Amino acid sequence: MKVLLVDDDVLTRLVMQTHLERWGHQVVTAGDGAAAWERFQVEEFPIVISDWIMPEIDGVELIRRIRACPRPGYVYAVLVTAKSQREDLIAGMEAGADDFLSKPLDAEEFRVRVRVGERIIRLEQTLVEQNRALREAQSALIQTEKLASLGQLAAGLAHEINNPIAFVTNNLAVLRRDMMAALEILNLYQSAQARLAEIEPTLAATTHHLAEEMDLAFFQSHLPRLFDKTQAGLERVRDIVNNLRDFARLDESTFKDADLNAALDTTVEILHHELKKKQMHLVRCLEELPPVPCQAGKINQVFLNILLNAVQACPTEGTIELHSRLLPGAQVEIVIRDNGSGIKPEHLEHIFDPFFTTKPLGEGTGLGLSVAYGIIKEHGGAIEVESQPGRGTTFRIKLPLVPPQATRGQDRFGQTRG
Ligand SMILES: Nc1ncnc2c1ncn2[C@@H]1O[C@H](COP(=O)(O)OP(=O)(O)OP(=O)(O)O)[C@@H](O)[C@H]1O
Ligand SMILES: [Mg+2]
Repeated sequence: MKVLLVDDDVLTRLVMQTHLERWGHQVVTAGDGAAAWERFQVEEFPIVISDWIMPEIDGVELIRRIRACPRPGYVYAVLVTAKSQREDLIAGMEAGADDFLSKPLDAEEFRVRVRVGERIIRLEQTLVEQNRALREAQSALIQTEKLASLGQLAAGLAHEINNPIAFVTNNLAVLRRDMMAALEILNLYQSAQARLAEIEPTLAATTHHLAEEMDLAFFQSHLPRLFDKTQAGLERVRDIVNNLRDFARLDESTFKDADLNAALDTTVEILHHELKKKQMHLVRCLEELPPVPCQAGKINQVFLNILLNAVQACPTEGTIELHSRLLPGAQVEIVIRDNGSGIKPEHLEHIFDPFFTTKPLGEGTGLGLSVAYGIIKEHGGAIEVESQPGRGTTFRIKLPLVPPQATRGQDRFGQTRG
């Protein structure tokens, strides 16, 4: 373990260092509290052993500063002192010391006390690791749950909407045909308008008045366009519903050959409204790809999470580029690039962590990228990010054309589904 050893007495320091190194620890020494504090701020030390009485920053002050410093891992702090009075021990413990060693040093006591520290640090590390695994599993569960309910909702919605859409579309076709025929008849009647005025002047005046009132000429010339637009609207509704159903594919738990370019297009369609609202430019450079065996619903989820982040990071009229290509070594590469805000270097290493978000409370859960990472890993692929703050971000996804055999037909916890 890495130990920070602080003592202003060279001899004591040397003796302790020799012992610690003999027990397999990596020791960094400091001759006073100030030097130790400087070192502590730039390096991680799970164990700090410090002399109590030192000029300027003494051992108690050093430990107080260590405790006030936000660090991911626990620091086990031991004070070394000739003091043995009870009040002193209490003051040291109050400042955050975990244990004491008294001078003159007894080598055996020193060894067992450092061992206690080591044990506590290892327990803490195990706990952190278990906690991380739990959070990952939790985020995967939340997302799987979300995806499954979206899939069910989309399938139900598609069924409910497709039915009325089908008869409205049929009726519209019939209506169009009959209306066009009726228009022809109307045209014929209109051609006899002069004749009608001679025989039935009142009736002719009334029809003329009604025609003017409804702007019959406009209606006649615009009717075909009105039908075209209505038809296009219906097709759009049908496409949206089908896209949603394709997007949240219910067969997502099995690997099937999929067209990733089509998957990207479907996802872009899902985001149509978001892209339009921000007047985003979309550059689409998709090369022809062979079918990729994957869990299509989950891959769509990856594209959606990354694209959504890109839209959110971009200003109005920002640009998103989509690239796809076949790589040597039986892999495909999908690149999603934006010219948005970029990611700060200190955030880069955390963006795939579950629940890491820089978005205001209630706006981001911080799950999008951790889920994307899990899905790509499950597919035997890789996901990389490059970013320049203020200039934009690039996500690069690589997927193998032969997925890892072990994961086929299994869910992320390794249980084969029936
Ligand atoms: N394209 C991007 N540009 C700038 N920052 C990004 C981009 N993609 C991700 N990030 C950063 O990574 C963080 C984590 O992203 P992630 O998708 O995991 O969570 P989120 O978007 O904050 O929340 P959620 O996706 O759950 O709604 C974001 O909060 C943001 O700071
Ligand atoms: Mg997100």
